[in-house]
Order: sequence, then C-alpha cells, then structure tokens
Amino acid sequence: MERRPRRNRATAFSRGFLKETHLSVSNLVQPIFLVDGKGIRDEVKSMPGNFRMSTEEAIKEMQSCVGLGIGSFILFPAVVEELKDKHATYSKSPDNFYLKAFTEIKAHFGDLVQLITDVAMDPYSSDGHDGLVEGDTILNDETLPILAEMALAQAKAGADIIGPSDMMDGRVGYIRDTLDENGYTDVGILSYTAKYASAFYGPFRDALDSAPKKGDKKTYQMDPSNKREALLEADLDFAEGADMMMVKPALPYLDIIHVLKENYDIPIAAYNVSGECSMLTAACQNGWLDFEKAMPEMLMSIRRAGADVIITYFAKAYAQMVKDGKI
Ligand code: PBG
Repeated sequence: MERRPRRNRATAFSRGFLKETHLSVSNLVQPIFLVDGKGIRDEVKSMPGNFRMSTEEAIKEMQSCVGLGIGSFILFPAVVEELKDKHATYSKSPDNFYLKAFTEIKAHFGDLVQLITDVAMDPYSSDGHDGLVEGDTILNDETLPILAEMALAQAKAGADIIGPSDMMDGRVGYIRDTLDENGYTDVGILSYTAKYASAFYGPFRDALDSAPKKGDKKTYQMDPSNKREALLEADLDFAEGADMMMVKPALPYLDIIHVLKENYDIPIAAYNVSGECSMLTAACQNGWLDFEKAMPEMLMSIRRAGADVIITYFAKAYAQMVKDGKI
C-alpha cells in the first residue's frame, strides 16, 4: 500500500497537528432572551438550561460568558400580550425594555461586548407574524418602514449590529439607507439571508410567545427544498449592503452554508437554532448521547461547512469546555 491515511491519525499529537478546521470561542454568539421586570430568571420549558431574564439577570449571565471569552450576544425580547398590536408599535417605543436593555448593557460592559439585535415584527405583533398582516396576506412594502424604524431605534439604543430576521424583500437596503441617513453608518447589518420555514424554531417561539396566531411563515421564509433560491437571496442582500449573511437553521442546511461561503466574499454566519439545541439536549438528558462529545462535533460540522460565525445556545457550554481543557 502506498497510501495509508491511518498513519496521520496514529497519535493525538499528529491528529492535533493536522486538524483542518478550528473553532474558537471568539467565533460564537450566545443568544439571550430578555423580559421586562426585575429578578426574573425563568427557564424555558422546551429549552432546558436557557432562561428568560430581566436585564440585570442577563447582565450577570453575560458577565460569566465574558469571563469565558464570549463577547458576542444576540438579544431577543419576550413581550407581554397587552403590549402587542398590529403595527408592532412597542418595538420603537421609548418605554421598550428591550431597547433600554441595550443601553444598560452597553453602559455596563462598554466595548467588552458586541450586541446584535433582532429585527422582525413577530415578538411585538398581535398577529405573531414578521410582517404586517392584512387578511391572510403578509404585506411586504408596508412592512419595510416599520422594520427600518425598529432598526433605527435599536441603533440609537446602542446596538452594534442589526439582525433583520423577517425575510421581507428589500429590507436590508431599506434599513441600510435609514441607518445611514441618520448617521449610523458604523452600525452593521447581519442579514438572515437564507432563513427557511423550519419546524426547528418551535422552542424559540415558546420562549418568546411569538408563534403566528394564524397560518404559517411559508410566504416569506424559504422552502426547505430550495438551494438555488438561497443564492438569489444572497445576491440581493449582498447588493443591498449586508455586512454578513446568515443561514438558518444550521444543521439541516449545511449545504447552504457551504454554497454561500464558496460564492461570496463577506462573512457567513449560521444559526444553530432552538430546535437543534433542544433535540441534542433531550437526547443527552435521556443518556442516549454524550453531551461533551456530541455538542462540539455538532458545532464543528457547522464550522467545517463554512460558517465564520455560529450563533448557538451552546456558546457558553463550549467556552466552559475550552476553559476546562476538554477541547
Ligand atoms: C424571529 C426569529 C425566529 C428565530 C430568530 N428570530 C423565529 C421565527 O422566525 O419564527 C428563531 C431562532 C431559534 O429557533 O433559535 N423572526
């Protein structure tokens, strides 16, 4: 035999030496669920180990992440039903606890953290959709100014990166123009470029009480069978000025991460979503999988597919393993 690939795998030293893909803690983003109030730390039933937190509790949680080397966070609001309406008015209200949280968190950590927002109407909408609803239709162009005002309010509150997750056509350009016109040229846009109409968002919608009241999201989120369409979405987001492009979910869409990475010269992010995290957690709780082996393998697959950045509920757990010398 001239070729014996096993020779390169024979020792731990050589396996470490020849590793093709590396995943460092600085590539990870930890999601945080925020609620209004004080002293709240409520576990999300379908996401064991994840909590809805009031701002000061979130700051404590973020402090421990920062101690482990995680500085990137994506924040989501859980809003009480009484504050929701058709136009997502609360999303830009000066009383909005989510906006205040950005200001407080930035005041606490300064440049030790970078904060990413979520732009979509669903957490604030009485219809539970990402866009404005009329009858059975999710209106596109009428939604754009609402999203742009939401994004502007987030930038004013101190957000570093705006994350439009709504999948309306033309929203990246519309938001970019609005930010620029108001002097926020340095606030970035991480676009949810290829966001699929996925069953894997279920636990997240429990966390935020943000499920659609009627219908589904298939007229704006992508069909799971489509790949070329992801390239079209990417062309548009690139042309409209997105700084980074995201694929979501991650694990069932590794081929999409790969194809965007091969075709575009801006950073690619992947969102390892709630359902992916919950299915792994459930299997580990049942003793069917070993968390400390399966979790890093899962994140590595996403990195290997081409993700520069991974948003994952396991960011802190991964960082803890790195600190403990287990990775
Ligand atoms: C809101 C939004 C969703 C997620 C991120 N932003 C849910 C949805 O589109 O219904 C899902 C994240 C996750 O499942 O972890 N538009």
